[in-house]
Amino acid sequence: MRKSRILGVGMYLPERVVTNHELEAMKELETSDEWIRQRTGIEERRYVKEGESGADMAYHASVQAIENAGLTRDDIDFIILGTLSPDYNFPGNGVYLQDKLFGDRTVGALDIRNQCSSFLYGYTVADSLIRTGQFNHILVVGTEIHSTALDFTKRGRDVTVLFGDAASVIVVGPAPEGHQGLLASTLHSEGKYASDLWMEAPASVYHPRITAEMVAEGRHYPKMNGRMVFKHAVTRMVEAANEVLTKSGKTSDDVDLVLLHQANLRINTMAINLLKIPEERTVNTIMWTGNTTAASIPICMCEAIKQGKLKENDLVLAAAFGAGFTWGAALFQW
Ligand code: COA
Repeated sequence: MRKSRILGVGMYLPERVVTNHELEAMKELETSDEWIRQRTGIEERRYVKEGESGADMAYHASVQAIENAGLTRDDIDFIILGTLSPDYNFPGNGVYLQDKLFGDRTVGALDIRNQCSSFLYGYTVADSLIRTGQFNHILVVGTEIHSTALDFTKRGRDVTVLFGDAASVIVVGPAPEGHQGLLASTLHSEGKYASDLWMEAPASVYHPRITAEMVAEGRHYPKMNGRMVFKHAVTRMVEAANEVLTKSGKTSDDVDLVLLHQANLRINTMAINLLKIPEERTVNTIMWTGNTTAASIPICMCEAIKQGKLKENDLVLAAAFGAGFTWGAALFQW
């Protein structure tokens, strides 16, 4: 059976930079640059301007990724799109991206909901679809607009300071003879912790889905049990990373580059230390992107390429943890 490889990568960040100082200036938020920097490593993030959609960002990132892969739009035959912040409640954003990229050419679009683990879920599914020959060139997209759903008061400050808007895309296609492709991946979920990191409303379990009272209580904003998420994120990413290393008969010494989901610089420092991988063999972008959920790992790929840390045939280990809880890891040859 043929293997798949990542042929190209692209990213898009909105123009508007929002620094910690700008958040500090929002009196009701009651936060500070010092607190955010010390606890998370974040210095700034980007927010979309009104009218700019998640599908718009995904379009720009896709154009870049297709060009980076040396392909044209005509080569793409499937879309897998991950987002926790679709432009509308339904349909998912995949169809809007299909329209922007292909117009009258109808291309299948699969929307996935795996939050910060979306990239790993999407890439794993894309790999299987390429291996079986079902499709030839798949866009795996992550696009998120957090800025329009954040609580800019003290009530929501723990979550609000963390997130930023962005999109990123990889193109997955057939690997050449001898290329190792995706050596191993692992995907997990544990729904008993769903309400420890979630956005509750509007919800179809409620009649009606949302009320003025729920809005007054802030139940339409994301909520998080920060300390608990922090501990699980470190433990589960390390566990999953070790799982794919074992599955493929490799050790951390074999890994050229580690790309971790960008939720908190302290989480990543702990995880990389537990994996016994030197910090030079990783790239973090959270300082200037914040947490961009589904978009984070391919943004790190772009940055690693820019820094000369990601080269042809390198062995890359990626891991992510997010809402659900969901988590996973992948070991692949670049
Ligand atoms: N600015 C200023 N103070 C803040 C704040 C903010 N933005 N957010 C919380 N605080 C305050 C708290 O109210 C608390 O005050 P208190 O001691 O008076 O009660 C204090 O800071 C400590 O809060 P705590 O939640 O214990 O801080 P922490 O060290 O755990 O850091 C997070 C908070 C959110 C940075 C951290 O828990 C985290 O990163 N968790 C994981 C987040 C994550 O990964 N989310 C996405 C998963 S994909």
